[in-house]
Amino acid sequence: MPKILKTMLTVSNLSVQFGKRVLFDEVNTLFTKGNCYGIIGANGAGKSTFLKILSGEIDPTSGNVSLEKGKRMSVLSQDHFAFDDYPILETVLMGNKPLFKLKKQLDEIYAKPDFSEEDGVKAGELGVTFEEMGGWTAESEAANLLSSVGIKKDLHHILMKDLDGKAKVRVLLAQALFGNPDVLIMDEPTNDLDFETISWLEGFLANYDNTVIVVSHDRHFLDAVCTNISDIDFGKMNQYSGNYSFWYESSQLAAKQRAQQNKKAEDKKKELEEFIRRFSANVAKSKQATSRKKMISKLNISDIKPSNRRYPAIIFEQEREAGNQILHVEELSKSVDDEVLFKNIHINLTKGDKVVLLSKNSQAATAFYEIILGNATADSGEYKWGVTTTQTYLPLDNSDFFKNELSLVEWLRQFAQTKEEKEEVHLRGFLGKMIFSGEEALKQCNVLSGGEKVRCMLSKMMMSRANVLLIDQPTNHLDLESIQAFNNALTKYKGTLIFSTHDHEFAQTVANRIIEITPNGVIDRYMTFDEYLENPKIKELRNKMYA
Ligand SMILES: Nc1ncnc2c1ncn2[C@@H]1O[C@H](COP(=O)(O)OP(=O)(O)OP(=O)(O)O)[C@@H](O)[C@H]1O
Ligand SMILES: [Mg+2]
Repeated sequence: MPKILKTMLTVSNLSVQFGKRVLFDEVNTLFTKGNCYGIIGANGAGKSTFLKILSGEIDPTSGNVSLEKGKRMSVLSQDHFAFDDYPILETVLMGNKPLFKLKKQLDEIYAKPDFSEEDGVKAGELGVTFEEMGGWTAESEAANLLSSVGIKKDLHHILMKDLDGKAKVRVLLAQALFGNPDVLIMDEPTNDLDFETISWLEGFLANYDNTVIVVSHDRHFLDAVCTNISDIDFGKMNQYSGNYSFWYESSQLAAKQRAQQNKKAEDKKKELEEFIRRFSANVAKSKQATSRKKMISKLNISDIKPSNRRYPAIIFEQEREAGNQILHVEELSKSVDDEVLFKNIHINLTKGDKVVLLSKNSQAATAFYEIILGNATADSGEYKWGVTTTQTYLPLDNSDFFKNELSLVEWLRQFAQTKEEKEEVHLRGFLGKMIFSGEEALKQCNVLSGGEKVRCMLSKMMMSRANVLLIDQPTNHLDLESIQAFNNALTKYKGTLIFSTHDHEFAQTVANRIIEITPNGVIDRYMTFDEYLENPKIKELRNKMYA
C-alpha cells in the first residue's frame, strides 16, 4: 500500500531578487514528513538564502513559506563559535527558544531579593505554562540527548569553548534536535568535520524520522542521507526523488540525449528505462538499506533537466621560480591547553614537492600553517623559508577578509602589486575568470556566499604569483565544478605546495609526498596518498605515533 505522505512545509510563489539578480522566480515546492531533502546548486545559486527564508531569518521579495500548524522547525547553527561562553547543557536547552526564554524569566523572578506577593502570582502563572511545555524534565532530556550524540556526562557543565571542533558540532546538533523538531534545517554540516564524524552524522540522519532539509556539496554525504534532491538552477527549484548519484547520472544522461537530435525517441525512452532499472537494482542491493533508503520509491527522470554549471578558470603561475632552499623546519612543537598538537617536527621541503599534510587532530595542520607564516608562535623550535620563496595562503577561516563593504573590484585591488594590475580592466578580467562577470563584479564583498568568498580568495592567490602555496582544506564551501578546476590547477602548478584536505580524491591526485605531524614527531614519505594509507608498516607506525 502506498504511504500517504504528510506535507510539513509549503513554499508558494517565492521570489527573491537582489538588485537585478533574480535568485528565485516564483518557486513552488513542498517538503513532506519523513523525507530528507538535499538542496544542491552552484556556489551563489541561493541555497543558504533559501534556508534563511525557510527559517524566517530573512524575508523574500514576494511569496511565502508556511509550516503546518503546531509544528516546530529548528536550525543547526553554522557558527561553531556562537555559544563559546555557555555551558554545554545550557547550549542544548537554548535549542527550544520559547522554553529557554520562559526558564530565564522564572529564574530571574526567583532570584529577586525583594520577592513580592505580585512576583509570586506571576511566577505561578509562568510555572503553569512551563510545566505544559515540559519544562521540568527539560534538563534530563537534554542530558540524555547529549549522551546519545556521544558527549559524556562529565562534560555537560564545561564551556563550549573548551571542546574541540568535532565535539562542538555534536553539541550543536543536540541543540538543533532538542525538543524533537518536526523539521531540521542544516547548511553544509560536514564542513570542518573529519571522516569519522561525518560518517557518524550520516548514520544519525539516515535513521532520523522527521523531515530534514540539508544543503551540502559533499556527494558521499548526500548519497548516504537523501531521499530527494532539490536542485536550484536558473532561479527555479526542481525536486526529484532519489539520491544524489541518481540525480547526477540522470542529468548527465538527459544532457547527452538532448544533444543526440537524430536518435529516435523510442530508443531514448528505452535507454532511460534501462538506466532506471539498473539504478534501482543498485539501490536495493546497497548494504546501507536504512529506513530512509527504503523510501526511495518511484524513480522518474522524464523531467530531469540538464544542469547549468560553470567552471572557474583557476591557474597558478609563479612570478619567478624559487631556488633550491624552500622551507626548513626543526624541532617545532605546539600544544593548545593540555593537548599536544605536534611535537619535534622536522621537515625539509624540496622544490616542486606537493605535500599533503596529515594529522589525526584537525587543529594541528591549521596551527602549523599559522606558525610557519608568522601569524602564531610555536612553543619551541624553528623554521626558515628560503630567501627566494614567496608564499600565498588559503586559510580555513577567511571571514576577516570580508568584514567590509568594498565592491569585489576594490576588494581585489587591495592585493594588486603593479600599476597595471590595479587597473579596472585587469581586475575585472581576473574576476570574470572566477565567474563574477558584469554587475556581479560590483557587488559588496560582505554579501558573498561561502563558495564565492573562496573564489575571491583564489583570485587573490593567483594574483600573488607566489612560488609556494599553502592550502588549508581546499574543498570547503566549493561546488563540484570549482573543486575540479582547483584540483586540476594544483596538479599543473610547477611550484611547491603544502595542503591539507578531507577529500580523498584531491589528496590522491595532487600529492607526491605525505607528511603526517603527530604528538611524537613526523612520518614523511614520498608516495601517493593511497599507498600511504594501505601500507601495513605505516599503519603500524601511525598507531605508535599517536599512542
Ligand atoms: N544582500 C545581498 N545583496 C546582494 N546580493 C546578495 C545579498 N545576499 C546574498 N547575495 C547574493 O546572492 C547569491 C546567493 O547567495 P547564497 O549565500 O544563498 O548562495 P549559496 O547557494 O548558499 O552558495 P554557496 O554554495 O557558495 O554557499 C550570491 O551570489 C550572493 O552574493
Ligand atoms: Mg551557502
